[in-house]
Amino acid sequence: MSSKNGGFSVRGVREWLEAPAAAVAERGGRLNVLRGAVARVTTPLLPDDYLHLANPLWSARELRGRIVDVRKETADSATLVIKPGWGFDFKYEPGQYIGIGVLIDGRWHWRSYSLTCPPNWSDPEAGGKRVISIAVKAMPEGFLSSHLVSGVPVGTVVRLAAPQGGFVLPYPPPEKVLFLTAGSGITPVLAMLRSMDRRDMVTDVQHLHSARTAEDVMFGAELRDLHDRHPSFTSHLNLTGEHGKFALAGLDEKFPDWRERQTWACGPAAMLDEIEHHWRDAGIADRLHIERFEIERGAVGEGGTVIFGKTGRTAEIDGATSLLEAGEAAGVQMPFGCRMGICQTCVVTLSSGHVRDLRNGDEHREGDKVQTCISAAAGDCTLDV
Ligand SMILES: Cc1cc2nc3c(=O)[nH]c(=O)nc-3n(C[C@H](O)[C@H](O)[C@H](O)COP(=O)(O)OP(=O)(O)OC[C@H]3O[C@@H](n4cnc5c(N)ncnc54)[C@H](O)[C@@H]3O)c2cc1C
Ligand code: FES
Repeated sequence: MSSKNGGFSVRGVREWLEAPAAAVAERGGRLNVLRGAVARVTTPLLPDDYLHLANPLWSARELRGRIVDVRKETADSATLVIKPGWGFDFKYEPGQYIGIGVLIDGRWHWRSYSLTCPPNWSDPEAGGKRVISIAVKAMPEGFLSSHLVSGVPVGTVVRLAAPQGGFVLPYPPPEKVLFLTAGSGITPVLAMLRSMDRRDMVTDVQHLHSARTAEDVMFGAELRDLHDRHPSFTSHLNLTGEHGKFALAGLDEKFPDWRERQTWACGPAAMLDEIEHHWRDAGIADRLHIERFEIERGAVGEGGTVIFGKTGRTAEIDGATSLLEAGEAAGVQMPFGCRMGICQTCVVTLSSGHVRDLRNGDEHREGDKVQTCISAAAGDCTLDV
């Protein structure tokens, strides 16, 4: 903190005050000075305890948010409007996702959800405050999605992981766009459409969305409204309960110029696999952008005792539980992002033993870097975390 001549510099003081809150992303930084200052004056006691007493959304070391509204979209889906606390960066890109952690029975459960709102969104229904929204479809037997759709009370404080992901619409948007979505796969594309609409930059966009019945279509009224207001946007619905799945062989007839369009696709794994092959066979894989919500698990590990080396904690796990889930359950602060094998944020070094990739059964050994979100123990092992 001291300056070159032994006195105090303003910059030094500022850095010293900011240091305790350095891990919290924030543009502008003024809030970090305040956060850090609170941390400094309350040290050696935990600053978060004091901040939390004043406002549960204030935290010097993690992003938090409060659920301010839950809006039913269909029988099994809902939009959650969340007011983020200190440090949340509202300048995300349309199509990105956040991590959300919910405390249930004393354990934090984390999942990823695409933001459905455009960047820097103020919701008139939330008093014009800057908020974010996600839309969750309850999965059969899905633990957290069912809770978020039909059990989570307004006012619940959640943890948040900052927006990330490369499935984004560039600005300005391409001249010709094709969106292919199904089910909850509409969510990141909705953020793109809402951003285009808000910026009044709706280029030539064709959107084919599939759902089982008309009642299952998420945001159906909004899609119709966009279709009616923007001559360059066409919304096509395919009700699979009546017409079956859309066959890609029909692309030439429905969208004769599909090869010229930048395409964003999000939906069930089988649909995305088919689309990926089709675009690759057509030699235009570079025009395709895909977002996957689920891992295809083709393997299980053997299970075993996992030692989290830096913390000294251990967990006995079966061969289907990921190392990430095991670490979180054991109270280890595990790094993570997508939780689906996409982003690499969860990579740690395997100090000893073996682990297995749950997607393809590949085995990793001592010294390998492993993605904990899609790896399970193949016998006893130690992770450098
Ligand atoms: C980048 C990204 C963005 C996403 N965006 C959205 C979004 O906008 N909206 C949305 O609704 N979802 C989204 N998801 C999916 C979301 O993160 C959750 O995976 C989803 O809500 C299910 O969570 P859950 O806790 O209900 O299910 P889980 O309890 O985690 O189970 C998920 C499904 O897998 C099955 N399953 C569970 N464990 C196993 C196992 N060991 N072996 C085989 N099958 C198993 C369950 O039966 C269930 O059907 C996104 C995912 C990613 C990666
Ligand atoms: S959390 Fe993204 S790859 Fe594991």
